[in-house]
Amino acid sequence: MASVEIRGVRKNFGATPILHGVDLNIADGEFCVLVGPSGCGKSTLLRMIAGLENISGGEIVIGGRVVNNVPPKDRDIAMVFQNYALYPHMTVRENMAFSLRLAKAPKEVMEAETARASRILGLDPLLDRYPRQLSGGQRQRVAMGRAIVRHPQVFLFDEPLSNLDAKLRVQMRGEIKDLHQRLRTTTVYVTHDQIEAMTMADKIVVMQAGRVEQIGTPLELYDRPANLFVAGFIGSPAMNFLPGQVGDGGFRPDGIDGATSLPLPARAEAGQPVVYGIRPEHLRLDENGIPVTVQLVEPTGSETMVTARLGESTLVGAFRERVTARVGDTLRIMPDPALAHLFNKGTGTRLGA
Ligand SMILES: Nc1ncnc2c1ncn2[C@@H]1O[C@H](COP(=O)(O)OP(=O)(O)O)[C@@H](O)[C@H]1O
Ligand SMILES: [Mg+2]
Repeated sequence: MASVEIRGVRKNFGATPILHGVDLNIADGEFCVLVGPSGCGKSTLLRMIAGLENISGGEIVIGGRVVNNVPPKDRDIAMVFQNYALYPHMTVRENMAFSLRLAKAPKEVMEAETARASRILGLDPLLDRYPRQLSGGQRQRVAMGRAIVRHPQVFLFDEPLSNLDAKLRVQMRGEIKDLHQRLRTTTVYVTHDQIEAMTMADKIVVMQAGRVEQIGTPLELYDRPANLFVAGFIGSPAMNFLPGQVGDGGFRPDGIDGATSLPLPARAEAGQPVVYGIRPEHLRLDENGIPVTVQLVEPTGSETMVTARLGESTLVGAFRERVTARVGDTLRIMPDPALAHLFNKGTGTRLGA
């Protein structure tokens, strides 16, 4: 096992800068998730760690060794791709043993390692099947088996669950996490799905447009997002944002009369333009709350999602109780000020961060 250090790493494709200087330390044994919208540079960064893309600037260090000029096969990493990349003409057993065969491992080692991977992943009954005879989840497991037979220092995963249906995705999420808990191999896992990031990661790296926006544990990002981008990206349904001004002792949303004011969650100067952020699950129904106009009511069974209008803004509330309001009704809601945030409207930075 090994730590991975990314130091000022940049990537240009031709004249186009794609990564603008990424710094990141991944500890030995850590499960680190790179998350961000499509096109932000996650796969490029992962492929640079793997050695599949050259490095335009900075250094990548695996296990204390700078690997910028080390070819992929000598980096002691194993990568699992979204499309599994299994060999269709080989059985499960042959697919798993293939990298060891390439490395000219002795037959006993090949057999022992394939048996170990097969046992860990529950593939014993499938060893003589071909990929076309497997379900999506089984193929994904074979792809992982192929990675673990080599005892690599680092596992790299690029959106490994994107091709699976929702239910299987949840199951495989658990299996990958369980695998990590047993093997404790340093893992870098790429996804665009913030739920996957939240549920699997020890450490999450939120990226946008080739830059790191914030690094932290799942709950650090949820509780203390550094800026509007992270606040809006982490959490589902997404955080509500109300533009407005700091008034005397409260927050005044734009576009409604001056009497409506929300308790301030952070110190801010009066008159400062800010964005007030509150998660749907941190709003509650309160007869002394502020009036909003109901636009949509969506019961999910366990909770009721209400979309409502406040001045020029739309708010979503997630309430544990059953809401009987209809479209056009007035509902009174109150944010929990201890769980709300203020952001600088110009820079997007969270105040008090
Ligand atoms: N081989 C390439 N040549 C030119 N541009 C590329 C190449 N690979 C990726 N890009 C561009 O780099 C950016 C980041 O891509 P990628 O790392 O695949 O993003 P992500 O995995 O986060 O969706 C995108 O704008 C993409 O179009
Ligand atoms: Mg990608």
